Amino acid sequence: MEKVTIGVLGFGTVGTGVVKTLRDHQAGLRAKTGMAFDLKKIADLDITTKRIVNVEPNLLTTDAYQILNDPEIQIVVELIGGYEPARTFILEALQRGKHVVTANKALLAVHGQELFEAAHQHQVDIGFEASVGGGIPIIRSLREGLVANNFTEIYGILNGTTNYILTEMTEKGGAFEDVLRRAQELGLAEADPTFDIEGIDATHKLVLLIYLAYGQHAEMKQVLTQGISNLQPIDIHFAKEFGYKVKLLAIARQADGMVEARVHPTMISADHLLAKVDGSFNAIYVVGDVVDSTMFYGHGAGMMPTASAVVSDIVDIARNLQKGVTNRLPLLPSTGESARFTLQ
Ligand code: HSE
Repeated sequence: MEKVTIGVLGFGTVGTGVVKTLRDHQAGLRAKTGMAFDLKKIADLDITTKRIVNVEPNLLTTDAYQILNDPEIQIVVELIGGYEPARTFILEALQRGKHVVTANKALLAVHGQELFEAAHQHQVDIGFEASVGGGIPIIRSLREGLVANNFTEIYGILNGTTNYILTEMTEKGGAFEDVLRRAQELGLAEADPTFDIEGIDATHKLVLLIYLAYGQHAEMKQVLTQGISNLQPIDIHFAKEFGYKVKLLAIARQADGMVEARVHPTMISADHLLAKVDGSFNAIYVVGDVVDSTMFYGHGAGMMPTASAVVSDIVDIARNLQKGVTNRLPLLPSTGESARFTLQ
């Protein structure tokens, strides 16, 4: 049986979920692909804290280069997050001819062009299904299942933290700051929630959706970005009175060959499917000129949903390795500087 060899950088929440899935689902993955998935090394600065999955001590290292310099490792899974050292590790993996799987939306939104060019140059793939919508297979759907379409509208609830806060403010009332504090106490919001509440995380994800849907690199600064930190209980209350719900929407709309991208709190009719996406769930409503309306719904974060997406990329790359092909995105043009950009 053919074998694919994997190294994981980052043994935090998602890393643990990936290791657990590769272990627990070994037989199923083998049956479905005809391949064995060999997890050879896991690197993290903390290799002493006990995780929910037991791994043999010889699998663990604090040195990422034990993975990057290992010629047997074919797929490097980057789950460190943030810009550095994740960017350097990914570039070094690509330069060594290794395929990369990452959930790092911030890195891809800001440095994607550099990373995709490096992948192109070294003829390897970057899988990033987990970077948008957690366990929801939206990346593959835009790239493959819906590829025939010209996308007229994309509306995403792409940030679970803000959706949880808005749901609580709608259902139970309370000031934004109090609900945020409660979410932090429950471990649902980060200690530093700036990227979430100011809409930056949703914009990172929208940039990636634009990349797939329209084949162009948009820049973060092109997307009008407004978070939810200035929302008052009265805004939510009046929206409710008039039959609306307030959601933080990531929007890409196309008309007359131009695409407009923005992220901001939006009033949605309470009847709309997106208005029913509550709590920390994510959803993406996509309208294509061939398929018409579709909607994707699920957990946008969390150990196991995100692991589900990461493992799907590992399997995808393994299948391509088996066939001796890659599934790289073509090098894409930049959208330029404007807030609205022309389709090329
Ligand atoms: N902070 C993100 C969210 C995590 O709340 O949706 C998943 O990207």
